[in-house]
Amino acid sequence: MAWFFTVLLLFIASFANACDRCIFQSKAAHYYEDAPTSYGGACGYGNLGLEMSQGYFAAAVPSLFREGMGCGACYQVRCKNATLCNTMGTKVTLTDKNSDNRTDFVLSKKAFTAMALKGKSQELLKTGIVDMEYKRIPCEYNKNLSIQVVEWSHKPYYLAIKLLYQGGQTDITAVYIAAQDGSGEGRYMKRNYGPIWETNNVPGGAIKLVVIVVSGYNNGRGIVIDYALPAGWKNGDIYDTGIQIKDIASEYCNPWRCGEEPWK
Ligand SMILES: *[C@@H]1O[C@H](CO)[C@@H](O)[C@H](O)[C@H]1NC(C)=O
Ligand SMILES: *[C@@H]1O[C@H](CO)[C@@H](O)[C@H](O)[C@H]1NC(C)=O
Ligand SMILES: *[C@@H]1O[C@H](CO)[C@@H](O)[C@H](O)[C@H]1NC(C)=O
Repeated sequence: MAWFFTVLLLFIASFANACDRCIFQSKAAHYYEDAPTSYGGACGYGNLGLEMSQGYFAAAVPSLFREGMGCGACYQVRCKNATLCNTMGTKVTLTDKNSDNRTDFVLSKKAFTAMALKGKSQELLKTGIVDMEYKRIPCEYNKNLSIQVVEWSHKPYYLAIKLLYQGGQTDITAVYIAAQDGSGEGRYMKRNYGPIWETNNVPGGAIKLVVIVVSGYNNGRGIVIDYALPAGWKNGDIYDTGIQIKDIASEYCNPWRCGEEPWK
């Protein structure tokens, strides 16, 4: 298991400066179309992104998108115009990348209007861009971490998997693959983009997949999800790992870096 600890240390070290608990001040815009039947998004969740977020999805700037590692992260967002907005704001799931540097987030219309005071939704939509604040929060799914074999996998040479329902406040930092029967060498899968990991060196038979999830930062701990993908894996199928992730990052931040106390 030495490979595992090496990887964990590496990835935890790279998060030492994160401060997810902090509230950040920024601006948010909204999508002009919520296309509920064909939602894409840079994370590649497709329509599952709609289901996972229940329509409360968002695109975020590269610093939050983190080359796809931020896909599936959840944020609480609230706008700051007291004549238009409520104080609770809304919760969103990151499913897309926002390359427009005027705002940190672009929210689905459903999420954007959820920030409005009663009767002010249309007025809020019309303002287009609002001052807001946000912080990362744990994702809550009534589902176990699941693995979908991506449509463009090509048995037996190439396997791509998509990780769904990543709960809690966690990052998936590595996926290790080996033959379930212990034959041959194991190897790491490569992040293709977003929540999609791939390899063109696929073991035959049932496949042992080890998903390494990091929760917490300076004192982060790893969760290892060990799952046997059946030999009969098929493109598009979704496999339940049987493990629901609920861990929440326990991190240390200097209060002066946060600026404000966390929301109640
Ligand atoms: C709040 O929104 C209203 C309507 O768009 C606008 O007139 C007002 O200036 C905004 N207030 C602040 C503090 O931005
Ligand atoms: C935002 O992007 C525009 C267009 O790409 C660029 O001209 C501008 O300098 C950027 N602004 C900031 C603050 O980075
Ligand atoms: C998660 O997996 C466990 C163990 O296999 C199972 O009992 C449970 O029903 C699953 N939970 C959901 C929400 O599917």
